[in-house]
Amino acid sequence: MGRRAGLPESWCSCLIVVAAVWAATNVNVAPAGASVLPTIGVNYGMQASHPLNPDIVVKMFKDNGIKKVKLFDADSWTVGAFAGTGIEVMVGIPNNQLEGLAKDYSRAEDWVKENVTKQMYKGGVDIKYVAVGNEAFLTSYKGKFDKLTLPAMQNVKKALDKAGFGGKIKVTTPLNADVYESKNNKPSEGDFREDIKGIMKPLLKFLRDNKSPFVVNVYPFLSLYQIKGFPTDYAFFDSNHGKSIQDNNINYKNVFDANVDTLVWALKKNGASDLKITIGEVGWPTDGDFFANPTLARRFYSGLLKKLASNEGTPLRPGPMVVYLFGMVDEDMKSIDPGKFERHWGIFRYDGKPKFPMDLSGNGNEKMLVGAKGVQYLPKQWCALKEDAPIAGNTADAQGYACLMGDCTSLVYGGSCNNLDQRDNVSYAFNMYFQMADQDVAACNFNGLGEIVKTNLSQGNCLFPIYIDSAADQRLPFGFGAAILAALVLPILMLS
Ligand SMILES: *[C@@H]1O[C@H](CO)[C@@H](O)[C@H](O)[C@H]1NC(C)=O
Ligand SMILES: *[C@@H]1O[C@H](CO)[C@@H](O)[C@H](O)[C@H]1NC(C)=O
Ligand SMILES: *[C@@H]1O[C@H](CO)[C@@H](O)[C@H](O)[C@H]1NC(C)=O
Repeated sequence: MGRRAGLPESWCSCLIVVAAVWAATNVNVAPAGASVLPTIGVNYGMQASHPLNPDIVVKMFKDNGIKKVKLFDADSWTVGAFAGTGIEVMVGIPNNQLEGLAKDYSRAEDWVKENVTKQMYKGGVDIKYVAVGNEAFLTSYKGKFDKLTLPAMQNVKKALDKAGFGGKIKVTTPLNADVYESKNNKPSEGDFREDIKGIMKPLLKFLRDNKSPFVVNVYPFLSLYQIKGFPTDYAFFDSNHGKSIQDNNINYKNVFDANVDTLVWALKKNGASDLKITIGEVGWPTDGDFFANPTLARRFYSGLLKKLASNEGTPLRPGPMVVYLFGMVDEDMKSIDPGKFERHWGIFRYDGKPKFPMDLSGNGNEKMLVGAKGVQYLPKQWCALKEDAPIAGNTADAQGYACLMGDCTSLVYGGSCNNLDQRDNVSYAFNMYFQMADQDVAACNFNGLGEIVKTNLSQGNCLFPIYIDSAADQRLPFGFGAAILAALVLPILMLS
C-alpha cells in the first residue's frame, strides 16, 4: 500500500479514537483507573537520593489502575510492597550479578529462593517475569556480558523450574534497540549487530523454547537527541504530513513503528518470527535537554497511548502490544553519561506529583494522573548564595563541586532552569546539593558562601525543590555524610 492508500487507513484509526472518546465521556462514573489499558506497565527504578517509600509508589500504581510493573532488581522491600495488589511484576537482575549466576548454578538457586519463592506465598506477589540483566549487549559494555547473559538465564530458568515456578514465571532479558540495525533505515534491511549475531541465535532459541517474550527498549527521544538533523515530527505519532520512510509497500510515519519492525525483520532472518515482542522501556524525559520538556513528553505519550488503545500495533505486528513506560518517578542519582535528561524520565516528579496530563486509557482525555499521597517533605528552607558574596573564582569552584555531587541537570541549555541569572544559578546548585544532603547545615556552608533561607527561590518553570523525608535514603551506597563533605570541600579551599 502506497502513500495514497495509507490515508484512508489513518482516517480509520481517527474514527476509532473519536468513538472511544465519546464512549469514555459517557462512562465517567467508572472507578478511577478502570479503563486503563491492560497492556500498559510502568518501569519503577529507585536510583534516587530520596526515593519515595515503596508503599506510597504501589498506592500510585493502584490509584492509577496500572496493572504491570517492571523492576530493575529484586529488592525485597520494593517487591514485597506489591503483595496482594494483583499487579503483575517483572523482577530484575542487575548486570553485575550475571557472572555469578552464569558460573555458579547454586547462586541461581539461592537467588530464586530468596527473591522469588519468599514472595510467591498465597496472597503474595504476582511475579510473572524475571529480567536477567539489563541492556547487557550495549556496545558501551564492550562485550563484557555477551557470554554471561544466556548462561545466567539458563541457570535462573533451571532454578525456577526446580522451585516449581517453571510454567508460571518466564525468564527473559531486556535489550536495547541497539542490538539490531539497518544500514539505510529501512526496516526490511534490519538484522542483529554483526558482533552479537553469534550470541543472539541461541538466545532466540531459548526464548522460543520457553515461550518468553523478546523484550526491547525503544527510544524515539534518543533518535532525536543523537542524530543531527533527525526530523522532529518523525519521533512522534501525529506527523501525518512530516517525514516518512517507504519500505517495500509500507509507509512508516513514525520512528517507533520503523524501529520495532526492524526487529521483526531481524527476528525473521534469524528463524524467530514467532517470538512475541514486549516493549520494555519507552518514554520521554521532561528536563535536561532542549528536546526534553513536559510539552513534548505530553505530545509523545498522548500519541503513544492513543496508538496503544487502537491496538493497531505496527505494520508488521498488528494487534495489542505490551508496553512498559519509562518510568514512574525521576531518579536523581542516575548516571548522566547518556545525557543530562537521564534523571528526568519520570511521568511523576521526584516527590510523586504528576508532571503533565496523561490518560492511560488512551482516550486522550485531559486529566492528571493521581499523585503520591502522604509524602512528608523536609522543612521549608533552601540554600542560597549569600547576598553579599561576590561572584568570583571560588564561587565557581563551589558551584562546580555542588553540581558534581548534586544535580544541576536542569541548568543546561533547554533545561527548566536555564534562564536564571548568574547568582540564582549558583544558588540553584547550592540548593540541590543541600536538599540531596538531607538539608544538613554543613551542606550549605560552601566555605562561607552559602546561607539557609526561608524564601522560595523558584521562578517560572524553574523549581528550587524541597526534598522529601525519605525513609529509604539511608540505604544508598552513596552518602552525603559530613566526613565525605569535609574531605571534598578541601580541594575547593586549595583551589581558591
Ligand atoms: C536477591 O535480590 C537482591 C536485590 O536485587 C540481591 O541484592 C540479592 O543478592 C539477591 N539474593 C540472592 C541470594 O542472590
Ligand atoms: C549556570 O550553571 C551551568 C552549570 O554549571 C552553566 O553551564 C551555565 O553556563 C551557568 N549560567 C550562568 C548564566 O551563569
Ligand atoms: C515554591 O514556588 C513554586 C512556584 O514558583 C511552587 O511550585 C512550590 O510549591 C513552592 N515551594 C514550596 C515549598 O512552597
